[in-house]
Parts: sequence; C-alpha cells; structure tokens
Amino acid sequence: MPATPPSKARTKAPSPASQRTISLSLNGTATVIAVTDPNQPLLYVLRNQLGLTGAKFGCGKGQCGACTILIDNEPARACQTPIAAVADKRVTTIEGLGSVKAPHPVQAAFIAEQAAQCGYCATGMVMSSVALLARIPKPSLDEAKRALSGNLCRCGTHQRILRAVMRASGSAQP
Ligand code: FES
Ligand code: FES
Repeated sequence: MPATPPSKARTKAPSPASQRTISLSLNGTATVIAVTDPNQPLLYVLRNQLGLTGAKFGCGKGQCGACTILIDNEPARACQTPIAAVADKRVTTIEGLGSVKAPHPVQAAFIAEQAAQCGYCATGMVMSSVALLARIPKPSLDEAKRALSGNLCRCGTHQRILRAVMRASGSAQP
C-alpha cells in the first residue's frame, strides 16, 4: 500500500512547549502525534488525545488484555507501550478494523455468537483473535485458547468468544 502523502497526514498537537513528535501509521493513515512525554502509555494517547476509545483501560498493568491493539500486526498491550515505542510502526486499533455497516469478519462472528456480556473485554478479544487468524487462518481450539489466554473476561463469556473465533475461521465450532 502506498504511503499517505505528507499533505494528507493528520497532526494532533497539544500546546505545551517541550514536545516532540511521533510519526506512525495509525489505522492505515500516516499520523504525526505531538507528545510532551515520550514515556506516556500509547493507551492514554489513543483514548485521551486522539479520541480512539475502543481500547479499554482495565488493569493498567499488562495483565488483562482490555487494551490490546496491534503493532505491526502483532497484539500488544497499549497500557504498557510507551508512545515513543510506536514511532514508524503500524498501529491498528479496533476503530481500524471495520464499521457498524461493514464489520470485520471477526467482529461479525462476535456479533453472530453474541460473544459479549458487558463487552469491556471485547475489544481486546477481537484484536487478539484478528492477530491469531492472520497468523493461523484455521486454528485448532487449543490454539485459539492459547492465543486468548492473556485476555480476561470477568463475565465468563469465554465459550462464546471461542465459538466466535472458530466461526470467523470457518472451522467447526466448539
Ligand atoms: S489495561 Fe492493559 S493489560 Fe489491562
Ligand atoms: S463480556 Fe464482560 S468482561 Fe468480557
């Protein structure tokens, strides 16, 4: 995919004087973000500075997976990723997957299986599932369980989530 020309790059700039800029591809768009603290978690920048609130703050300690996003197509914890670490990387959030009218196949499978109760974990579950299916298009149930083992669901919808992953892969559902 050709790089977005500089004229189309979007810039998000806070006002303070001591700032630096981070350039990255965010959901397929060349983006320049002005930051005052390069160690600020990516999750905070996404949610508070860019208005991308799909990734959730759960534990803030890298333990629940609610903040999962993709960096160069690999799942990562946005709460544990300093904004400086995504310079020149490709970051994908759930906002970059699909839309209400045209959901990503994994999102469509989650809807079909009603794989959410409160839904707080759903973003992270979907992002981890997308990464899994990109790596292994037809995972076994055990592979799906392993891929999602770092994503916690306090509502206990794991069975439905696994059915959604298998549905999205076109495999028989558990
Ligand atoms: S909020 Fe990032 S892993 Fe829990
Ligand atoms: S559906 Fe509530 S935490 Fe998973």
